[in-house]
Amino acid sequence: MAVNFLSPPPLLLHQSYTPPDTGGSFIASNPMLIIAPAVIALLLVIFIACLLVYCREKPRNDIEISKESLHDSFGSERLSKCGSDVTSSAIYSPDVRSCIYGGKLGFTLQARNRGAQVFTYKELELATDGFSASNVIGNGGFGIVFRGTLNDGTVTAIKKLHRDGKQGEREFRLEVDLLSQLHSPQLVGLLGYCADQHHRLLVFEFMPNGNLQQHLHQIPQYGKVYQPLDWWTRLRIALDCARALEFLHEHSSPSIIHRDFKPSNVLLDHNFRAKVSDFGMAKVGSDKLNGQVLTRVLGTTGYLAPEYASTGKLTTKSDVYSYGMVLLELLTGRVPVDSKRPSGEHVLVSWALPRLTNREKVEEMVDPVLKGQFSKKDLIQVAAIAAVCVQAEADYRPLMTDVVQSLIPLVLKTPGGSLPATPARNYDSF
Ligand SMILES: Nc1ncnc2c1ncn2[C@@H]1O[C@H](COP(=O)(O)OP(=O)(O)OP(=O)(O)O)[C@@H](O)[C@H]1O
Ligand SMILES: [Mg+2]
Repeated sequence: MAVNFLSPPPLLLHQSYTPPDTGGSFIASNPMLIIAPAVIALLLVIFIACLLVYCREKPRNDIEISKESLHDSFGSERLSKCGSDVTSSAIYSPDVRSCIYGGKLGFTLQARNRGAQVFTYKELELATDGFSASNVIGNGGFGIVFRGTLNDGTVTAIKKLHRDGKQGEREFRLEVDLLSQLHSPQLVGLLGYCADQHHRLLVFEFMPNGNLQQHLHQIPQYGKVYQPLDWWTRLRIALDCARALEFLHEHSSPSIIHRDFKPSNVLLDHNFRAKVSDFGMAKVGSDKLNGQVLTRVLGTTGYLAPEYASTGKLTTKSDVYSYGMVLLELLTGRVPVDSKRPSGEHVLVSWALPRLTNREKVEEMVDPVLKGQFSKKDLIQVAAIAAVCVQAEADYRPLMTDVVQSLIPLVLKTPGGSLPATPARNYDSF
């Protein structure tokens, strides 16, 4: 009996049992009362944690990405990677007013590009009168250049890149990337760009006197025919160009190799002061290999340094060679390769080299239109600079600083002229 009393039948216990003042013993005997709130609390904590992680995720990614791009110093690896990334049209918003790279592609152009404005395609279409043929001012390997007037009245040169995939994309990104960080009076200024859907356009300051090639070889283009440049203007252009390359090679860190320095990439302002353009093929020098970069051979025949053309080894001295070729062109008025000339004169550098260093023959090679405009002493000095720049042995070519220093005294002699302003040193470090 006793046993029966102490252990009531389960049914009876369930229905009519009222707990006495047993305290903890009741909870202990009902574990669900502890487990259920604990599980709910745990779920709540997990939910809040997830919410916090989600909210923090976006900004954190942006910071990491922009840091990465800033640390990258335009490494070619990154650029080519970016180049292929951005060809995916799926990621472009159909209505791009802001920088497309800002969030999704890890390329915080807006934040980095002081002064480079972002344009919509529509804005540039309006500026160029629907990219009308009457506004075409140039046509190069990568795109067509239009004269355009922005709605604030600024006259610009708008380069509409061909839609040819990776290479065009790469040149676009490189040009925006470099020009928005490099500021020098001898480099053509980038006012803005457009990356609206598949369109890629660059907006530059307008250079009213076109390019040096048109002037040197009197190439009539889009209704303009130019008069030959005089000796002093040529010297000043030579100094401006030397300063542009000096800036890229010696005042930028790491140094930048232009890789396509030639007369059509030297643009002239209303005063015939020169600025260097076209950075789509530029390369950043390597600190590890004495500034040498191994790369695909790109550039323009006639201006390529022999060691670069044959091995792909690119250094700042490759640009010095190209500069020497342009200086030769300024002196002689001849193009680097001209099969119409008599035999022995086809290749400018081979024809000119022996004359450049020969006092008796040096005058023979000067552009006939310059007759009577220079002293023999000055000519010998300029010829010597050209000769040393185009020599086959890259190591013996001078630094652009040396070229600048050699040209300054000659330009200072300009009748009634003054020395061109010193180049700005306000480049960003990267
Ligand atoms: N900012 C500018 N102001 C005035 N004219 C310009 C400007 N930029 C380019 N041009 C003109 O447009 C032309 C074409 O330029 P672009 O750089 O596309 O090709 P290119 O230099 O002639 O040839 P390449 O494709 O081999 O570099 C230039 O030669 C120049 O006459
Ligand atoms: Mg060009």
